[in-house]
Amino acid sequence: MGYNRNDALTRKARQEGFAARSVYKLKEINNKYHIIPDHGNVIDLGAAPGSWLQEVSEKIGPTRRILAFDLKHIQVKLENVTFVKAELTKENFSALIKKNKLNKVTLVISDMAPNTTGVRDLDQVRSYELCLLALEVAKTFLETDGNFVCKMFESEFREDFEKELKIHFAHVKLVRPKSTRSTSKEIFFMAKEFFRGFELKKKSRSFLN
Ligand SMILES: C[S@@+](CC[C@H](N)C(=O)[O-])C[C@H]1O[C@@H](n2cnc3c(N)ncnc32)[C@H](O)[C@@H]1O
Repeated sequence: MGYNRNDALTRKARQEGFAARSVYKLKEINNKYHIIPDHGNVIDLGAAPGSWLQEVSEKIGPTRRILAFDLKHIQVKLENVTFVKAELTKENFSALIKKNKLNKVTLVISDMAPNTTGVRDLDQVRSYELCLLALEVAKTFLETDGNFVCKMFESEFREDFEKELKIHFAHVKLVRPKSTRSTSKEIFFMAKEFFRGFELKKKSRSFLN
């Protein structure tokens, strides 16, 4: 049952000219939670083969930009996209993004996934580490009120990550899109309205006054 539906989605993606069926996960999340803001620029982490890029590129239009990273090379023909082939780490992400001078970032999306080893615990830890890295990117570059979407292989780290997100975003939801393969253990976090610590203090101070 699941396989038939998923095969159909793979065919649909091909027919509609998308690089991967993953696009339907982002579409579902955006249709439900409106995570693509109507202004500002976007950072896409783990962008290859490029279906999320295609979707976001069309949605934001030619005057806004997407800065995309993947450790695999892809040929991107979308005019509003700058693609950088790099393996992002917590040591290099800041310099790599600054080098590309992207300002007014209102959305960070991460579909990054580790190469799976088949050792479940190891794959889960690596997925969690990529989530923490994506969150660092979001915390460093998002404008106040910006949004964040991040994929994780479901694990015991889920709650910790959710708690961490709630420190930085006004709304946090765990999503399992219908278009996710039935055998897949992946989940997505959708976080909206980023704020920095001092803004929280400002908010609570004005509440106390
Ligand atoms: C599921 S795919 C992304 C699919 C993409 N969102 C799309 O719609 O076409 C996950 C990607 O994450 C990339 N990736 C994993 N770890 C990475 C890292 N540290 N830096 C850059 N890319 C990474 C992989 O190379 C892989 O292409």
